[in-house]
Amino acid sequence: MNPIQPEIDERYLNAPEEEIIAAIAARRGELGDRLLILCHHYQQEAVFRFADLTGDSLKLARLAAGRDNPWIIFCGVHFMAETADMLTGPGQKVILPDLRAGCPMADMATADEVEEAWEDLAAADPDAKIVPVTYVNSSAAVKNLVGRRGGSVCTSSNARQVLEWAFSQGDKVFFFPDEHLGRNTSLAMGIPEEKIVRWRRGEADGGNSAAALRRARVVLWDGYCTVHMQFQPAHVEYWRKKDPRIRIIVHPECRHEVVRLADDYGSTERIITAIEESPAGSHWAVGTEINLVKRLADLHPDKEVHSLSPFQCLCSTMYRIKPGYLLWAMDNIARGEEVNRITVDEETAKGARMALERMLEIS
Ligand code: 13P
Ligand code: SF4
Repeated sequence: MNPIQPEIDERYLNAPEEEIIAAIAARRGELGDRLLILCHHYQQEAVFRFADLTGDSLKLARLAAGRDNPWIIFCGVHFMAETADMLTGPGQKVILPDLRAGCPMADMATADEVEEAWEDLAAADPDAKIVPVTYVNSSAAVKNLVGRRGGSVCTSSNARQVLEWAFSQGDKVFFFPDEHLGRNTSLAMGIPEEKIVRWRRGEADGGNSAAALRRARVVLWDGYCTVHMQFQPAHVEYWRKKDPRIRIIVHPECRHEVVRLADDYGSTERIITAIEESPAGSHWAVGTEINLVKRLADLHPDKEVHSLSPFQCLCSTMYRIKPGYLLWAMDNIARGEEVNRITVDEETAKGARMALERMLEIS
């Protein structure tokens, strides 16, 4: 990703938030259908309130693909804006208000590292047909590699369907970058623990013996989400003791020790639906990013909704999309100036689209 965020005028950073919010509202009206604002569920409220469409990463990209607004501001992280660019038409420009809004997990697997690991794994088990699967939280360059090698993208809502498909295509799955989504899904499918191995970045053969790699059905890259890793089994125990009515729901990026103790798990969309559909008076402890948990608590005053962790599990890169940056991007659009446009070159997009389209067919 391009980490170089241009400096923006001081007034976008220092003006009182109410002034910035009023200016965004005025610009929003002025730009009308020329602009579509997409917000991921983890966005802070001051930005989320301006969303035309909200959703998880994939839903947002699909929604954008069905629209023809020439400008799209993506309030989310870099890989989401790349996916939107690849699924939208050539006349649509995707803008990320702050280029520093990357996903640390996606950055844990570069295309070069994945390529090298792929070759090492193939050499360790030359007779196996290996199918690559990448979580949507990955760069377009990684998706491109996967597409060209006959693999697929997956999201946290369709990981199981994609893994089942992958096993219908080959003997072994190489899954990246999120170890935990891969492990939780594999275990839920009944794959025994001893057939799931971890690929440690930077170590020869991922730190595994050739025999372990040959035996494995799933090889998991050791990437992780810094936010979801903060949830611990002790938090589950705390809530179980404190409130016998509590239901615990977590995102599958949480470690397996947490997921197996929870009552339910799923993508951000799944978490939202589970809470929406629960009867009034339900008690929930939710293991995901704090902006979403707070919003769910506000939206459901007839239910108790708490964060599973007593600490604020904030996605600090999502949080970089501050109202001032949103206004700056909108002011530039109003002047017809392109800032922070996210584009994927056609060669990369070709392979990456294959991997995305495979996922769409499977799910
Ligand atoms: P969802 O696709 O479930 O919204 O997850 C995206 C993400 O980055 C979660 O950490
Ligand atoms: Fe990446 Fe985790 Fe933030 Fe999601 S919550 S964007 S996986 S760092």
